[in-house]
This record gives sequence, structure tokens and C-alpha cells, in this order.
Amino acid sequence: MIQHWDMFLAPYYQAIDEMKVKLKGMRGQFMMQSEHSPIEFVTGRVKPIASILDKATRKGISLEKLEDEMQDIAGVRMMCQFVDDIHKVVELLRARNDFEIVEERDYISAEKRSGYRSYHVVIRYPVQTIDGEKKILVELQIRTLAMNFWATIEHSLNYKYSGQFPQDIKERLVRAAEAAYLLDEEMSQIRGEIQEAQAIFSRKKENKEKE
Ligand code: GTP
Ligand code: MG
Repeated sequence: MIQHWDMFLAPYYQAIDEMKVKLKGMRGQFMMQSEHSPIEFVTGRVKPIASILDKATRKGISLEKLEDEMQDIAGVRMMCQFVDDIHKVVELLRARNDFEIVEERDYISAEKRSGYRSYHVVIRYPVQTIDGEKKILVELQIRTLAMNFWATIEHSLNYKYSGQFPQDIKERLVRAAEAAYLLDEEMSQIRGEIQEAQAIFSRKKENKEKE
């Protein structure tokens, strides 16, 4: 059984390793051109077997259907500085041809009731194995650093309280989500103003050089 899981999960580990290299490569290309990278950092994980079994039971997914019905056995997370960066990253993903996008879930335009915000893209990623090509599902979560901060804390509290938050903590988390949202808004505005100032500065410089 253990060996069976190793075999089953191997392509998921490979897909995550490959995706991390590719996405970090995108970051590297922006850096090389001295451009702001919309990707700040990338993490990935394969869902632990216990969590796979847990979720399968919870959602009534039979083990034979795991690979089609559980989209997040392989998960990759991309953190961005600004909300606009998220949309840029999604465009970059749509333009690639090394995988196929299966589904997009936008919890930024419409946040979850918990206060959760992120953009999810599920892809079908082809892994090359010694037995030929195997396409597997990978869930990409794209979020700002503030969204990630909130989601990480909420996730660990969720674990502690097994999803049953006391009312006051639930309310605090909603307020914290609002604060994270406001932080993202402020940062976007500051960024906008910095870019405007930089544009004016470089126009002035250009004019001076022409004189
Ligand atoms: P699961 O939530 O994974 O059972 O699947 P789903 O079909 O409902 O997909 P959904 O897009 O809602 O969630 C997928 C993943 O997003 C989860 O596994 C989490 O990583 C993340 N996520 C969704 N909602 C929340 C939330 O309220 N809090 C936190 N911290 N993460 C969330
Ligand atoms: Mg969910």
C-alpha cells in the first residue's frame, strides 16, 4: 500500500518541482531585465496522504477517482507584492503552452465568506515518465503577501479549532481580512504614485537631454 502511494504521488512531486523551476525562471527573467517581477516567491507541496484520505472521505471521492476529482494533490503558491501583479501572473500563465488551464476561481473579485482572498488556477500538467506522458492536475494559488499572511494564520487557527471557530475569533478574522485588503489597496496606491513620479522624472530627464 505504501509503495502504491509512492508510485501514485511520484508524478505529483515531479510536477511541483518542474513548476517551481519554471515559475522561478519567470521571476529571473524579469529581474534580468531590471523589471519589477510580478512573482515575489513560489512555494509548493504535495498534499500529505492523511489529508488526501481525509478530504476524500469528506467530499465522498472514491480512491479510484482521486486523480480526476481532487484538484489540489499538487499545490503551488505564487506570492505577489501587488494585487495588479496577480492579474499579470494570470495573463502570463494563460499565454504559456506547456500546460492547459482547466479552471479559474477568482476569490479576489468575490472573496469567500471566511474573508479568504486569492486567485486559483487549476492546470492539467503533462509529466514525462518512463511509461510515457501522464497528465495530472495542479492547483496554483496566486495571492499577495498580505493575502498569504491572512490565509496562513487562518489556516493554522482552523487546524487548532478543527474549523469550529469561537464567534469572537471568527469576527476578528473577518476584520483582519479587511485590514489585509486595505493594506493591499494602500500599497497599490503608493505604487501608482511612485510610478507616476518616476515617469515624470524620466520625461524631464529626456527633455533635458534633448536641449
Ligand atoms: P477545498 O476547499 O480544498 O476542500 O476545495 P474547494 O473545491 O472548495 O476549492 P477552494 O477553491 O474553495 O479551495 C481550495 C484551497 O484554497 C484550499 O485547499 C485552501 O488552500 C484554500 N482556501 C480556500 N478557502 C480558504 C479559507 O477560507 N481559508 C484559507 N486559509 N484557505 C482557503
Ligand atoms: Mg473549499
